[in-house]
Amino acid sequence: MSSPLTLTSTVKLPSGHIMPTLGYGVYQTPKDVCESVCSHALKTGYRHIDSARVYRNEGPCAAAIESSGLKREQIFFTSKIGPRDMGYEKAKKAIDASFAETGLQYFDLFLIHAPYGGRDARCGTWKALVEAQSEGRIRSIGVSNYGVHHLDELKEFMASSGVGGTISVGQWEIHPWLPRADIVKWARDNGVVVQAWSPLVRAERPNESVLGEISKKHGKTWAQVLIRWSLQNGFVPLPKSVTPSRIEENADVYDFELDDEDMEMLHFPGSYAPCSWDPTVAGLED
Ligand SMILES: NC(=O)c1ccc[n+]([C@@H]2O[C@H](COP(=O)([O-])OP(=O)(O)OC[C@H]3O[C@@H](n4cnc5c(N)ncnc54)[C@H](OP(=O)(O)O)[C@@H]3O)[C@@H](O)[C@H]2O)c1
Repeated sequence: MSSPLTLTSTVKLPSGHIMPTLGYGVYQTPKDVCESVCSHALKTGYRHIDSARVYRNEGPCAAAIESSGLKREQIFFTSKIGPRDMGYEKAKKAIDASFAETGLQYFDLFLIHAPYGGRDARCGTWKALVEAQSEGRIRSIGVSNYGVHHLDELKEFMASSGVGGTISVGQWEIHPWLPRADIVKWARDNGVVVQAWSPLVRAERPNESVLGEISKKHGKTWAQVLIRWSLQNGFVPLPKSVTPSRIEENADVYDFELDDEDMEMLHFPGSYAPCSWDPTVAGLED
């Protein structure tokens, strides 16, 4: 039997490094509040922050890490190479810019934010990540918003180009209304650990009757039910909040468990209801 989930639970990545199974997202977190909300998250017990170059808040995230009193290796920090920085040379510059902005010695994880730009740009970006990893600047590398066709392309490139590399993590919008069975299967078949963005569906479905029913049964909130759904499916959810009480609420999910009936009620196979962009459907030429 697997050990119960706790706020300190981690998953071992194909790179050999470990990643906390609850992350804290900072998309749309304004720069001027980012350090204080990240500090609150770290005080609450989160040990994993998910940022990106395009969020324009890597600096304040790093400042919160620096001032936390925790050792650097106790915190897992992610950034991403954005769509405008795709391609080998641009990606190398983007990685350098992230180091300059944060002053960090290393990043735990760097992802390709989205599969845009065509094959050469995607594969060149991957090469830049593999090199940064071999230099010890980035510990683990992966992709975000890749469809199965993009994943197949990358797998073929890794095997045939001599560039190699290992996809440790994939990040996608995943929640009960967007379970992405095909992508999750590809990831699991290939040992890729799956992170779930918008695990709270951006707070757009608080009145779903199924969430109301399950919340009432366990005496927990709809948001806590969704985070448990993600964790119990083996995903690494990245809930975002700039509200201190919600930051705490979203981490207070370890005193209850969804049972088979709850999980079945939240099982909507084939549902496709993204609440944001969906680059997974972009063509290979896009
Ligand atoms: N790779 C990608 O393309 C991609 C795309 C999107 C997101 N992400 C990552 O995933 C993270 C999470 O996704 P997200 O920010 O899109 O959406 P989310 O975490 O599903 O939802 C965030 C929204 O829910 C609200 N909220 C949070 N906790 C709540 C609670 N307990 N009760 C009620 N409302 C609550 C937040 O409000 P307040 O903040 O006002 O409290 C905010 O409006 C991002 O921050 C980012 O790190 C990645």
